[in-house]
Amino acid sequence: MLVRAAYTIAFLCLVGAAGWGLHGVLTTQDDDGFLQWRDPAVTAAGRVLYASHCASCHGMPDGSVKPTVNTSAKAPPLHDASGHTWEHPDFALFQLVRDGVAVANCVPLDPELMPKFKGIVSDAELVAILSYIKSTWPRAVRQNHDRVNMMYGPYNRAVRKLIDTGSGEHG
Ligand code: HEC
Repeated sequence: MLVRAAYTIAFLCLVGAAGWGLHGVLTTQDDDGFLQWRDPAVTAAGRVLYASHCASCHGMPDGSVKPTVNTSAKAPPLHDASGHTWEHPDFALFQLVRDGVAVANCVPLDPELMPKFKGIVSDAELVAILSYIKSTWPRAVRQNHDRVNMMYGPYNRAVRKLIDTGSGEHG
């Protein structure tokens, strides 16, 4: 009995230790991307930029502007919960909108239909636009997007390092 009890305690301790280890990994690794959707100042700025640069084709998430309908199979998707924007990790959204192509995970966008925004909005403005889009999603969609981000942590971190935040660091 005593031996069995000792085993049980040892087992519980192991499980407990593993649990704490995992807890540490999950809470200390910042793999949920670089969009600043929790920051109201960023998302307010992003909303204004989105309204002037994106809404004419993609519509406003609140329905105040309807998306453009085109006859091709590649109509501009709504960025709301009904769309598939959340399926792209942060780095891919950033690169798709800026350059029309992402280093991984995504098919390039049709340059005839979706403009490349490099040089039209700054990197920081683009982060604000995408942060605004994420802020409009219901919690469950944001959480799904966080999970996608976690699978692409190294890409997110690499692209985040290249983003010109306008701080002058990159000249
Ligand atoms: C002239 C119309 C037009 C404008 C303006 C435009 N888009 Fe698009 N966008 C499209 C079309 C069309 C597609 C689909 C292209 C394809 O499938 O190849 C698309 C695709 C996308 C996608 C990939 C699909 C998705 O939902 O993940 C993203 C992200 C996106 N656009 C974001 C933006 C953002 C952000 C802006 C503003 C900065 C913007 N677009 C401005 C037409 C436009």
